[in-house]
Amino acid sequence: MSEYKRVGIFSDIHANLHALQAVLSALDNEKVDSIFCCGDIVGYGAFPNECCDLLRERKCPVIAGNHDHAVLNITDTSYFNDVAKNAVTWTRGKLTLENEEYLRSLPLTYKDNNMFFVHASPDNPQEWNYILTMGEARHNFRHFEEKFCFIGHSHQPFIIVNYQDELSCPEAPEVDILENRRYLINVGSVGQPRDRNPNTCFLILDFENSKITLKRIPYNIRAAQDAIIAAGLARELAERLSYGW
Ligand SMILES: [Fe+2]
Repeated sequence: MSEYKRVGIFSDIHANLHALQAVLSALDNEKVDSIFCCGDIVGYGAFPNECCDLLRERKCPVIAGNHDHAVLNITDTSYFNDVAKNAVTWTRGKLTLENEEYLRSLPLTYKDNNMFFVHASPDNPQEWNYILTMGEARHNFRHFEEKFCFIGHSHQPFIIVNYQDELSCPEAPEVDILENRRYLINVGSVGQPRDRNPNTCFLILDFENSKITLKRIPYNIRAAQDAIIAAGLARELAERLSYGW
């Protein structure tokens, strides 16, 4: 059992303030007890400081993502494409010392009430491996003990259910929480969805009604795009928000 009734979880904000504001106000309306973020606060979008400030105000647990570490220059970025590398450099130039310290303080994993949080994968959090196949999911179920593991990183939401080592990935956005099951959940991306759905994404874990629900809501995409272009960031970072890719 959990001490929480209703929890909100989100990830991969990528400095998209308009999307983050929409998600936080939706979570307030959902009357959650607690919120958690699986990392990548910065990178790509025009509002790195504003997004850090909002999360700091909320005092919620936040995990470090690869873009957060890239901005701090504490992870390998050789696999980043040029657009991502340029966004890292731009973000470094904007980030306040306070927010740099904040990003540096974020842990790679976090545990609370049978929930495990990591940005990319529980098997080796610092390697930033993607979980994209059922085989990768099966491997990673061996690397956490909790009933729930929440991740981000690929910006593609899913809920994988493990019942006696049989895995399934229901297409429905709502799944029952049942006994003897464990769950590996990608909560999608707040600020740069990549599943062809441009709406912002987050997850509600409802212990009272035993439901896990992926939520999608619209936000002011145009304002986020205008800010990216005005900041001098790559135009394609603005354009992709329209397509959810
Ligand atoms: Fe990300």
